[in-house]
Amino acid sequence: MGKEVILVTGSNGQIGTVLSEALREIHGIANVISSDITVPRSTIIGYFEKLDVLDAKRLNEIIQKYRVTQIYHLAALLSATGEKNPQLAWKVNMDGLFNILEAARANGITKIFHPSSIAVFGGNTPKQNTAQSTILEPETMYGITKKAGEDLGNYYFYKYGLDVRGIRYPGLISYQSMPGGGTTDYAVDIFHKAVAGEHFESFLKEGTRLPMMYMSDAIKGTIELMEAPVEKLSHHYAYNLGAMSFAPEEIAAEIQKHIPEFTISYKPDFRQQIAESWIENMDDSCARNDWGWNPKYDLTSMTDDMISNLRKLQKNKNYDETRFL
Ligand code: NAD
Ligand code: SER
Repeated sequence: MGKEVILVTGSNGQIGTVLSEALREIHGIANVISSDITVPRSTIIGYFEKLDVLDAKRLNEIIQKYRVTQIYHLAALLSATGEKNPQLAWKVNMDGLFNILEAARANGITKIFHPSSIAVFGGNTPKQNTAQSTILEPETMYGITKKAGEDLGNYYFYKYGLDVRGIRYPGLISYQSMPGGGTTDYAVDIFHKAVAGEHFESFLKEGTRLPMMYMSDAIKGTIELMEAPVEKLSHHYAYNLGAMSFAPEEIAAEIQKHIPEFTISYKPDFRQQIAESWIENMDDSCARNDWGWNPKYDLTSMTDDMISNLRKLQKNKNYDETRFL
């Protein structure tokens, strides 16, 4: 692998915070440029540029300033935030992606990572063991932009030879960073409430089973996909990626094995309808066969790791601040 200079957009978010660090470990501190429309909440050891992905001129300036060779484009509005402002979700998710693809083309960048989501599926998609190629009829603006984003990435690959790669991430669970307005956010918040000794009120009802993944597996999968030889990739632009699947009462029961006094109640809101349009688990055999995908964490091992890491963070004086960011 030659020297790569990587630009990460949306780097202050749930994934970007962890992925930027992982990329710095692989490529070196000086070769990863974090960027976001907001300023970072904590000190970044490395470069950071304030960047709105809708500002194509500044995007091009940053690419040229650092001689960027790869982009991990994470800036987006997620499902719940997107339903509150669908017009802005379309603008950020589609115009932002278009600016990235065009800037890549103009500056000779050859490789882009752009994540997709389980939100590309809809109510007519088979919910169990959902195939890689299946009915894609998303019911949220977020899902519509993710589906169009998959198609756009594919188009740039075949039309311009731009190596755009992607993963249909399940809901991601992390202790290092907070989620930014999705339907699967409850599965992070539940751990923070449990470790703080508080009751948890779930905005999804019992029985709402969704695909989920621990952040370290998501980072591992992302890096493995980006490092795989292109000729091995049959669905480079959006791979199904599975790890675990659970409903709120199942994760609560797992937490209760560590914290028996933990309690949960249910008060579904508008996110229930979003969750019901998604699938329960997916067939990720293409990722397993093409580039050796194999997740490490299941619900039990993830719960052990989340609780032990959050307990360590709890001892840190910044814990309460980070919880509500
Ligand atoms: P997040 O909401 O935590 O972070 C998104 C970041 O984008 C935020 O820091 C925000 O400030 C930034 N941003 C918003 N508008 C911007 C703009 N105009 N210009 C620049 N930055 C802007 O999201 P995340 O969970 O880190 O998700 C990253 C990507 O992964 C998104 O494309 C998302 O759709 C995808 N994804 C995430 C999950 C998940 O569970 N976290 C699941 C599936 C797909
Ligand atoms: N976790 C994301 C969301 O809930 C799925 O892409 O919006």
